[in-house]
Amino acid sequence: MNIILLGPPGAGKGTQANILIKKFGIPQISTGDILRRAVKDQTPMGVKAKAFMDSGALVPDEVVVGIVGERLVQADCAAGFILDGFPRTVAQADALKSMLISNGKSIEHVLSIEVNRDELLQRITGRRTCRGCGRGYHIVFDPPKSAGKCDECGNELYQRDDDSEATMAKRLSVYDEQTAPLVSYYGNENLLRRIPGMGSIDEIQSAILGVLEGGCR
Ligand code: AP5
Repeated sequence: MNIILLGPPGAGKGTQANILIKKFGIPQISTGDILRRAVKDQTPMGVKAKAFMDSGALVPDEVVVGIVGERLVQADCAAGFILDGFPRTVAQADALKSMLISNGKSIEHVLSIEVNRDELLQRITGRRTCRGCGRGYHIVFDPPKSAGKCDECGNELYQRDDDSEATMAKRLSVYDEQTAPLVSYYGNENLLRRIPGMGSIDEIQSAILGVLEGGCR
């Protein structure tokens, strides 16, 4: 099961990927998470990526294509994977296609999670993430049991640097210009499944499972 989760910032890609990991036992490949780890560890890639990420711009294609190329050939991806936040440009989608062909693989589903702008803003500004295990929360829609602390590991929750209202505007315009064209790209390949993303986390998960398990197009 090789899946791409497509959608604007805050659509719920990471939230849904986390549920799918547990259900199907396949890994999530989040380029955002990999880049944030590199920034935290101050690796050469992280130092290069930080300014792009802080401003809401995309990290150059060659950097993220390299990350995904190395990750896809790891043993845990053999039975499937969930790409979260990649591809984000047509050049990345073309590169992914070439990588998969050379590995004898293909994408089965591209799930496009569709959410309106007001809701995206609310989701992003209320998001909190665990410093320890990385689990995501929302202060209103999905709060932790104890304020500011992760339910799973007890570590502190923090707000991402790029989750301000100002950076969000830039991230949304970058999405419109560079990532939204992938909706028709994958539509033309008959891989696109539109998921209405307004509703509870459970309702959206049911819609996703309906597509993955029911095979409806
Ligand atoms: P990345 O980390 O990928 O960020 P993003 O795509 O902007 O997506 P988000 O993580 O913001 O949102 P999400 O859809 O995962 O939502 P979530 O589930 O957390 O990328 C960050 C940066 O890295 C980019 O700007 C770029 O610089 C760089 N980058 C990454 N990949 C790249 C690439 N391929 N190429 C170039 N650069 C790249 O949910 C959001 C909140 O809403 C949470 O609080 C959650 O609890 C809540 N929520 C979720 N679902 C619901 C629901 N149904 N109802 C109510 N609340 C909900």
